[in-house]
Amino acid sequence: MAFLYKKQIEALTHGIAPFVLLRGNCSEILDEIPNESIDCVVTSPPYWKMRAYHVKEEYLDLLIGREKEPGEYVEKLTSIFHKIKRVLKNDGSVWLNLGDKYHNKNLMGMPWRVALAMQDDGWILRNDVIWNQRKGTQSAKDRLRDMYEHVFHFVKNRKYYYDGDSIRIKPIKFPTINGKQTISATGVSGKKYRKQILESENLNDRERDDALKALDETLEKMRNGELVDFRMTIRGTQRTYHSDNASVSGRAKELKTKGFFILTSKAKGFLPSDIWDIVPEDQWRKDAHYAVFPTELLKIPILATSKIGGIVLDPFMGTGSAIVTANEFGRAGLGIELSDQYLEIAQERLNETQLALQI
Ligand SMILES: C[S@@+](CC[C@H](N)C(=O)[O-])C[C@H]1O[C@@H](n2cnc3c(N)ncnc32)[C@H](O)[C@@H]1O
Repeated sequence: MAFLYKKQIEALTHGIAPFVLLRGNCSEILDEIPNESIDCVVTSPPYWKMRAYHVKEEYLDLLIGREKEPGEYVEKLTSIFHKIKRVLKNDGSVWLNLGDKYHNKNLMGMPWRVALAMQDDGWILRNDVIWNQRKGTQSAKDRLRDMYEHVFHFVKNRKYYYDGDSIRIKPIKFPTINGKQTISATGVSGKKYRKQILESENLNDRERDDALKALDETLEKMRNGELVDFRMTIRGTQRTYHSDNASVSGRAKELKTKGFFILTSKAKGFLPSDIWDIVPEDQWRKDAHYAVFPTELLKIPILATSKIGGIVLDPFMGTGSAIVTANEFGRAGLGIELSDQYLEIAQERLNETQLALQI
């Protein structure tokens, strides 16, 4: 096999070029990429029978998404991801965005057909993110509006690179209640708990002292920013969560032996959930006539599963959103695209991005 893109790919893997865009069939070009050289793949292949992409006549048969049978589509995509497994680093990740399709009135479950086939091929599925697009399309009168797509997170191995801290949602500013600034995310001040401890007939003197001391220590941690919130449960005042049975629940045990327990939320923030509320760009960008990835959607995959200086690959690059965002976050990007038209748009967007990053 002739390696057409060896030099360009080397410029990327040697850290010389910030991005490389290649025109052609990703199934073939993937064979030119060295083993275990890619940190993270973020991609949105054409959905089955959904859109007509503008490619040269002779490339039509290479376009993914035009297969007659769902099984053929699943097989083709799975074989492309099989190739991706070779080029992905052992601790790398794949984020695959797919939408579904009604065929003869029947919802096909295409995203899950692909996900299950990929699992059968050895991929480990870590998340099925529901991309809630906020505005549904009303295409039939006898069923509900479609509003979501899937973003699957796959890995090659049980241990993989994941920087959860880079995507944590920082706690909201503490609210003001009745004109007073509170010290916790939900307005808990500790006053109610102090009263409950002092008035409790279910605590002995030592337990009461310990509870007051623990409450003061927690409030101190809130003031110095170590914690953002807490809940205190005092024997006899509230129901325990989970189970009252001390042999079942650790918290029930603590309540029995100490007379109280405290649950805390740390200031580090929390990981985003598997439902992402993001309005697609083509619903608000006048120049976007195609299924463009919103930057917001790319942020979590790129930040959490690739290192600065790593390489992000999009084998169905379209207008290059994944590569642009990779560059903006200090990662290199490799894009493959069959259509000249989209490749040109991607090239322009990347030139602009590079200019902006140099300023
Ligand atoms: C859903 S679009 C991707 C849009 C992209 N996420 C963006 O932000 O613009 C899918 C793209 O895959 C391309 N494509 C389809 N079959 C391909 C193939 N075999 N190799 C490379 N690209 C292909 C299509 O031309 C289309 O641009």
